[in-house]
Amino acid sequence: MLNLRQESRKPISLENLFEVVADDLQRLNDNLLSIVGAENPVLISAAEQIFSAGGKRMRPGLVFLVSRATAELAGLKELTVEHRRLGEIIEMIHTASLIHDDVLDESDMRRGKETVHELFGTRVAVLAGDFMFAQASWYLANLENLEVIKLISQVIKDFASGEIKQASSLFDCDVELDDYLLKSYYKTASLVAASTKGAAIFSKVESEVAEQMYQFGKNLGLSFQVVDDILDFTQSTEQLGKPAANDLAKGNITAPVIFALENEPRLREIIESEFCEPGSLEEAIEIVRNRGGIKKAQELAKEKAELALKNLNCLPRSGFRSALEDMVMFNLERID
Ligand code: IPE
Ligand code: IPE
Ligand code: MG
Ligand code: MG
Repeated sequence: MLNLRQESRKPISLENLFEVVADDLQRLNDNLLSIVGAENPVLISAAEQIFSAGGKRMRPGLVFLVSRATAELAGLKELTVEHRRLGEIIEMIHTASLIHDDVLDESDMRRGKETVHELFGTRVAVLAGDFMFAQASWYLANLENLEVIKLISQVIKDFASGEIKQASSLFDCDVELDDYLLKSYYKTASLVAASTKGAAIFSKVESEVAEQMYQFGKNLGLSFQVVDDILDFTQSTEQLGKPAANDLAKGNITAPVIFALENEPRLREIIESEFCEPGSLEEAIEIVRNRGGIKKAQELAKEKAELALKNLNCLPRSGFRSALEDMVMFNLERID
């Protein structure tokens, strides 16, 4: 098992681990705003609101790290235009999915700011998300790589499948861990997996390496979603930059709840009554927090993280591979 509490190790920061691709990320930030398009003032405001600050840029960071780690394998000296465009496309898809997700989850805050639908209304938010998905598809098509086009367009479909799957099982206490993992794959891990595999494809590495990069992104993405679902119970709105304890309130049954339901019949009763009794939401949150649900979810996040680390074994040792390993550990340390 991974030991998260090694005394000798300093906590990992995203800034440090992304240092080896800091210039790449800076170029990405400069490009993102202009790419979203300047035709419509509402879209510009929406784009500014969401792109200007606060996002971790984890997915493009992963694109650049895998691009550079695999470029070495393939004898490539510099990143290609395709690698960079891929980073931008991925962050646009991610942002579009967040705008739509906040409508679905009725969340009023994102990245420490008011959400697009809160500021401009649901109709604009839906259109702004659609615009970004479409714009991302346009840039994707222009890369003229059929394998990557298939990979990323599948992701856009998966995101919607995941959200539909979730929306159709709200307050359902019979949701099993496998259902939850499948939904999490669709809404989160599929995009991370396509980021890391797409980067490997543009480095022109052998297909076995590209497949390992896919599995790496998938396992990291799953670990990431489990951690995000734990943080929803353990952190404040201020720390998260988005509303805390929102998942259960909306009936979204995540890993900590699934585990807590195993031996807490009272929790099922409260959730199935959709928190109609005053104070029952607080009681349910307390049960999830303090009766083992969080701990078991942590084990699940670690399990996926271990698999992700193994997927990196096909890469030569380098600063980029170490940063990818750190990314896996950084995610786990968020719940330390
Ligand atoms: C949020 O992703 C959505 C999930 C998959 C849980 P991030 O936590 O990467 O969001 P930003 O981009 O940093 O805001
Ligand atoms: C995460 O959805 C998946 C995406 C929409 C990319 P969540 O609803 O779990 O994520 P947060 O907590 O709003 O960021
Ligand atoms: Mg949400
Ligand atoms: Mg959601």
